[in-house]
Amino acid sequence: MKVPFSFLTEQFSDPEPIFESIRNFLKRCDFTLGEDLLEFEKKYATYTGAKHAVGVGTGTDALSLSLKMLGVGAGDEVITPPNSFFATTGAIVQTGATPVFVDAAAGDLNIDVSQIEAAIGKKTKAIVPVHWAGCPADMPAIMALAKKHGLFVVEDACQALGARIGGQHVGTFGDAAGFSCHPLKPLHVWGDGGVIITNSDELAEKLRLYRNHGMEDRDTIRFWGVNSRFDNLHAIVGNYVFETLDETIETRIAHATRYDAALDCKELAAHLEVPKRTPENRHVFHLYKIQVKDRTGLLEHLKAAGVEAKIHYPTPLHLQPAATALGHKKGDFPVTENEAAHTLTLPCHQYLSSEQIDYTIEKVRQYYA
Ligand SMILES: Cc1ncc(COP(=O)(O)O)c(C=O)c1O
Repeated sequence: MKVPFSFLTEQFSDPEPIFESIRNFLKRCDFTLGEDLLEFEKKYATYTGAKHAVGVGTGTDALSLSLKMLGVGAGDEVITPPNSFFATTGAIVQTGATPVFVDAAAGDLNIDVSQIEAAIGKKTKAIVPVHWAGCPADMPAIMALAKKHGLFVVEDACQALGARIGGQHVGTFGDAAGFSCHPLKPLHVWGDGGVIITNSDELAEKLRLYRNHGMEDRDTIRFWGVNSRFDNLHAIVGNYVFETLDETIETRIAHATRYDAALDCKELAAHLEVPKRTPENRHVFHLYKIQVKDRTGLLEHLKAAGVEAKIHYPTPLHLQPAATALGHKKGDFPVTENEAAHTLTLPCHQYLSSEQIDYTIEKVRQYYA
């Protein structure tokens, strides 16, 4: 049996409905900031419960443009966890600000809220928490700290569309949030795309101008901006994928629950930990990450059995060559480093069958037997 990690070849096995929309689009030729993007932004706002959604070029831009339009820049510090995809810290660096890392918490592996206050200094301007792997960070506690210290919060929700805390969608707690529509994300397009959500009219207006050169109208630029538009062609694809988003998420949650039920047991307790989740929150399992002993051996065993597991990620951000100037060393963020050494992502996408999940479970059990 094969258990592939990616779902993309199946997602578009019948592209005819998209081709039909593209034929209509070619009659209008509104290639940038067109009708389909307006529909996509509306869908995004309605789905998350945010007042505004603004499409931009990438998830990375969604984060950096939000920070910039909130006034974050050179001389400022921004608090963020060191266990994320490069882009979270990359987006902070893009603004000219300095990232200040706060370790993850053992357990859900989101930023350790109990350590944030010690990292806040005179230069701190914002916090960028990450809803890691699709698991909501503790936004009520983070927002309370931000309020106390007068800081902005931009949520990195790039992996977490559809995740909720109680009934509230992640991304709607902070001043703004960035989402990614990269092909590996559940709501993806045929290339790159990102979305910012915010409840602020003023910020949304600034972002709409900034992503399009700062252009107020054809002949007037209100302030210098960038070109980070979400292509209309991608919006057509995004609108199509939106139709099955909740079904996709529910299938992933069902697979994760199946994994948990089989792997969270006495016989495996010495070798493996399943992801932590809080019952009142909705973890969307962009990644089903377990912590394992003897990862290299297990990875090889799974590969030989046709199961495509991956590592997200082997080297934390503070130990990357790009972070040298920040002056960190091994041992600075022990929870993050422990995660990097032991994390393994099992396939968990919406096109896998229960049999494929059971087969993967059997192979994991076999390895540790
Ligand atoms: C946590 C996180 N932040 C930011 C990004 C950046 O998104 P994009 O690739 O759309 O720029 C990603 C994408 O993988 C991500 O996983």
